[in-house]
Amino acid sequence: MTFCEYKPGLEGIPATQSSISYVDGQKGILEYRGINIDELAKSSNFLETSYLLIWGGLPTKDELAEFEHEIRYHRRLKYRIRDMMKCFPESGHPMDALQACAAALGLFYSRRALDDPAYIRAAVVRLLAKIPTMVAAFQLMRKGNDPVQPRDDLDYSANFLYMLNEQEPDELAAHIFDVCLTLHAEHTINASTFSAMVTASTLTDPYAVIASAVGTLAGPLHGGANEEVITMLEEIGSVENVRPYLDGCLQRKAKIMGFGHRVYKVKDPRAIILQNLAEQLFEKFGRDDYYDIAVELETAVEERLGHKGIYPNVDFYSGLVYRKLGIPTDLFTPVFAIARVSGWLAHWKEQLAENRIFRPTQIYTGARNASYVPIEQRQSTHDRALLASLIAE
Ligand code: ACO
Repeated sequence: MTFCEYKPGLEGIPATQSSISYVDGQKGILEYRGINIDELAKSSNFLETSYLLIWGGLPTKDELAEFEHEIRYHRRLKYRIRDMMKCFPESGHPMDALQACAAALGLFYSRRALDDPAYIRAAVVRLLAKIPTMVAAFQLMRKGNDPVQPRDDLDYSANFLYMLNEQEPDELAAHIFDVCLTLHAEHTINASTFSAMVTASTLTDPYAVIASAVGTLAGPLHGGANEEVITMLEEIGSVENVRPYLDGCLQRKAKIMGFGHRVYKVKDPRAIILQNLAEQLFEKFGRDDYYDIAVELETAVEERLGHKGIYPNVDFYSGLVYRKLGIPTDLFTPVFAIARVSGWLAHWKEQLAENRIFRPTQIYTGARNASYVPIEQRQSTHDRALLASLIAE
């Protein structure tokens, strides 16, 4: 048996071979299918980029038109999904609602025909089309309102903002939102993509694949960080308080949300673009009070933690953009999911093409040959003081 070193978090261990995206964490480069993210943000749009990621090349005019048409046609939700959503508690987190709805799609389209290109195409189209409708519908329903039907005359991003805010969005706002989706569409083997791949490797249906990825993205160390960034900026409250706040975090060894990355050791290229988008929005719609706090925090973190390669990641400035677009804080991560569905689907397809079920090994650290103690003779292994404090909470 070969000796292999245990790496917590599988740091640096290749989990697959992939041709979908490329990151150079030292130089701050991100490419989708070889095309630099700056160029895609400037020249492409979210659906074209999704096509590129999922089918491996840029579409022709006709191919893109057909893809957009299919997605437009499939945006509506079945009334049973809407009825199911009505039973969700309004206080529930929208990521939990989204995970449940994505999984529920499998009830309606359960046939598993993973070798049938038409089945694959239909699943890609349905997921890309319906996830934004689910996010917007939950937002309206939890306020006690009926969901707004998608509008066929609006493109992907404008339609989402329309369904969310019940009014046609400003052109610049819709464009900037679309760029945000492009920036978040894919990012190599991060936690949620890995979870999608593991689920895909069992040959389950694509709705289960996406539901498991949504659940993974929800965590505060991953997609949930964008929400935490706003909470943190709120807590800091003023530019003067930035440094004392940072000192406090460093003393407690608490992580500064929106900073640090397993791969990037420089400022995330997406954070650079997002900061620029935030400034464009501020120019047109007014400055966000938190922006100065954010900029000061970036400077202070760079001074204190730059030597460790801790710089803003994608989540640091995205929240400020979303706030200006009128998106509620707890929808930031669902919006991330809307974008990342295309990356997850690309990895799902890639996994199926060369599938082998994931079954890693472990280094066992527990007891061996332990005896079965009769119940009358056992002593509790629980920490009673800890249990009592948990119950008291
Ligand atoms: N604030 C302060 N210190 C940090 C931060 C941070 N945000 N991130 C890393 N560090 C420090 C650690 O304390 C550690 O220092 P040490 O070596 O002196 O102990 C060192 O940098 C390495 O940190 P790890 O936690 O081991 O790095 P890892 O690669 O495991 O974690 C992660 C990466 C989870 C993103 C981490 O940087 C973090 O928790 N950041 C805050 C949450 C966040 O913004 N998540 C979003 C990431 S992007 C995304 O998922 C879409």
